[in-house]
Amino acid sequence: MNILLIGSGGREHALAWALSNSPLLTKLFAAPGNAGIAEIAELISVDVADHEAVISFCQTNAVDFVVVGPEAPLVAGLVDDLTAAGIKAFGPSKAAAQLEGSKSFTKAICDAANIPTAKYGHFKTADDAKAYVEAHGAPIVVKADGLAAGKGVVVAMTKEEALAAVDACFEGSFGAAGAEVVLEEFLEGEETSFFVLVDGENFLPLATAQDHKRAYDGDKGPNTGGMGAYSPAPVMDEAIVSRTIDEIIKPTVDEMAKRGTPFKGVLFAGLMITDEGPNLIEYNTRFGDPECQVLMMRLKDDLLTLLLASADGTLDKVDARWHDDVAMTVVLAAKGYPGSYENGTQIKGIEKAADGPDVAIFHAGTKQVDGQLLANGGRVLNVTAHGTTVQEARDKAYAAVEKIDWPEGFCRTDIGWRALQS
Ligand code: AMP
Ligand code: GLY
Repeated sequence: MNILLIGSGGREHALAWALSNSPLLTKLFAAPGNAGIAEIAELISVDVADHEAVISFCQTNAVDFVVVGPEAPLVAGLVDDLTAAGIKAFGPSKAAAQLEGSKSFTKAICDAANIPTAKYGHFKTADDAKAYVEAHGAPIVVKADGLAAGKGVVVAMTKEEALAAVDACFEGSFGAAGAEVVLEEFLEGEETSFFVLVDGENFLPLATAQDHKRAYDGDKGPNTGGMGAYSPAPVMDEAIVSRTIDEIIKPTVDEMAKRGTPFKGVLFAGLMITDEGPNLIEYNTRFGDPECQVLMMRLKDDLLTLLLASADGTLDKVDARWHDDVAMTVVLAAKGYPGSYENGTQIKGIEKAADGPDVAIFHAGTKQVDGQLLANGGRVLNVTAHGTTVQEARDKAYAAVEKIDWPEGFCRTDIGWRALQS
């Protein structure tokens, strides 16, 4: 099969790595890709926001299946347009991607299907939102309703902070995403992620993972896209996984089907494990980045077969098996990220760092220029390793990080701290 992979992050390099091992693969294209993906796929320069151009590329190059990595093209309806043109694609329709694209939509699904989640209010004006803050006090969580690249959430520990966050949203800090606001009860517990493949009707649980959202050690500093992850997540024991499936995943899949907007693709549940059990914080409608990197390292079965089963509605006929090992990924980011940072600095030593069978280095923001590997983004590399324990995976990942010569980069030195304590 000829496959087109959409995206350019560490997630997409991990997907490309897994797809390139598939016995079903003939040719892998990627748009736009990065320097790591270029080693296993042909990069193409089609603008992924131009759906007609993507369709035309697929028709000209006999692409059989399109795998969409990031959320923006999903929310923009790329899968709908490909499907209408007769091209098979992995990922949800625009309507089903609202599970990620609109927080109030997901809250309404939770209400309809009785899914455990934080109590909330949904507001279209600053005055109404502020009245809710006054009535409920702090701590309280303020969320821009729409897609804000992971930056539209403020966990306000004081009423003043919450009121300021409401103003910031309605004054346009998050653009159109902040035109409506969701205010939420603050949930206490351990945060974790659960990934499930869905085909509209059936679902196949994949694996658990934990991310590290803050930029610096000790979970300090600004929120980022994620600075490191590991899988499995110790907090997700069998009982919690089973409750998550029964109380959150299945009701969501059924409710989406009942509404005539069945969900297909990967459902990424962000959970808070509270004293009462799992609560849904948010859904994403794609693989996590960097969670995907650790999932792909643990997956024993053929990824392409699983993604096709999601698109074809045959997930009840496949299974996914996982290595028992722990996988961990450490993100190397450009100094300054998630604020401003320099592009174009040179990275050396990658081949030396990735020379063992237990280590893979997935590229995110990189490009090759005249034989040199250059940084080209905030999150730049994902140094990923596996071992029989969290400690072993972590030791291997950080030993590989040490071999990379990139003075303009940084990483957290404490990825996995929570799992090491449990
Ligand atoms: P979200 O984009 O909805 O995942 O929110 C970003 C981050 O804010 C989450 O990863 C949590 O750490 C935190 N958060 C979101 N909602 C809540 C909540 N109701 N209670 C506590 N923390 C939350
Ligand atoms: N790492 C979190 C995310 O992909 O949204």
